[in-house]
Amino acid sequence: MDDIEEYKALTSVFSAYYHFHQWEYDQLIKPRGIKYNSLPPDEQRLLPWYTQHTESLKQAINTNKQFTQFVALTICKQFGIEESPSSWYEAGHDDFDKVRSILLQLKREWGDEGEHERLVFERMICELNHKYPDFSARQHVNVLLPGCGLGRLVFEVVRNGYRAQGNEFSYHMLIMANFMLNFCSHPFQIHPYLHKFSNVCNRADQLRSVVILNHAGGTNGFEQLMLAHPDVPFMELMSMAAGSFTDLYGPDSLTTNSTSPNEFRATNKAHFEAVLTCFFLDTASNIIEYLKTIAYCLKKSGIWINLGPLLWHFENDFNTSHITLPSGEQVPTIMKGLELSRADLIQLIEDMGFQFEKMDTHEQRTVTIYAADPRLLSNFTYHCEFWICSQ
Ligand SMILES: C[S@@+](CC[C@H](N)C(=O)[O-])C[C@H]1O[C@@H](n2cnc3c(N)ncnc32)[C@H](O)[C@@H]1O
Repeated sequence: MDDIEEYKALTSVFSAYYHFHQWEYDQLIKPRGIKYNSLPPDEQRLLPWYTQHTESLKQAINTNKQFTQFVALTICKQFGIEESPSSWYEAGHDDFDKVRSILLQLKREWGDEGEHERLVFERMICELNHKYPDFSARQHVNVLLPGCGLGRLVFEVVRNGYRAQGNEFSYHMLIMANFMLNFCSHPFQIHPYLHKFSNVCNRADQLRSVVILNHAGGTNGFEQLMLAHPDVPFMELMSMAAGSFTDLYGPDSLTTNSTSPNEFRATNKAHFEAVLTCFFLDTASNIIEYLKTIAYCLKKSGIWINLGPLLWHFENDFNTSHITLPSGEQVPTIMKGLELSRADLIQLIEDMGFQFEKMDTHEQRTVTIYAADPRLLSNFTYHCEFWICSQ
């Protein structure tokens, strides 16, 4: 990406955060007004609560606005962007919709209501701690977390004493992760459930707020932990790398982006004692590239811990492009097309040189929701695969 494109990409995301309330208003409030005004008076009288609920939705949108605007204005400076929203590029519908889903992701990773969803993080850390029981020695254990979303698992891995690097390629996520990891030292209220009207049991459920907080956020971050473990330099243990997993951590042969940092990639060769993939594997368009990348950046004695479903993200993506084969021949390719079954994936992992050390059986699989309202009358539940591999 050149500088102008990068500026455009970044500022349109900041605009999505800054003007999110306007989009919420258009999505939620406007259609309700039109519908209500189109009802004959006798039908309106049958819904005496309707206008008050719309007012409550407006108030909740305003609370979200306080938060999302604060995030945009706080984090733009970190990215070297001027604090003047009127000069930023406009956000599109997809950008706004991603902010909507990030409010739910905030609930998952940092919200008081997200505890149950975060059990999967605990499970992964538990396995890591089993392998590295000596807390003081963990600062020498490099852990990579690709597709780390809003950074909670990275943060928890550091709290357990490891040197952790999060990797994420979405600006929408990176901006909020930066806020949560570095600036959220007091509680914020958000309303993440406003946007769904189907399967709602009570209006109050839709309006309820979630409190998000990172107790250790802000500059004084890990002070309490440092008192308990004075020999562990918590403040130095966390880092984030922005960019595509395969570009940043894979072998040169996988690089799709000619401007990606070759030197950074070279330093990652056999660098990590552990790679933790949480709800990440199925984001691959080509799972073989992800596996090659894990094999490349993992130390020979290292472990790969995976937890997540096989909901292949590109299954419905027919976008095509061209790719150059090692022979030099250019051929068309497509985003979808490598959605493997569990059995075929397991075989592939073994064929690529990994050994399974532990794996949940079908009956043991973790069943969980993902960034959703647990009080809805109907929810998508994920049946997660869990395994530990060595190579
Ligand atoms: C389903 S989310 C999981 C987030 C987090 N690990 C969790 O469990 O809540 C997948 C994340 O991977 C990121 N992602 C997808 N493909 C990626 C890639 N090739 N490189 C880096 N990040 C990627 C997405 O932006 C998204 O934040």
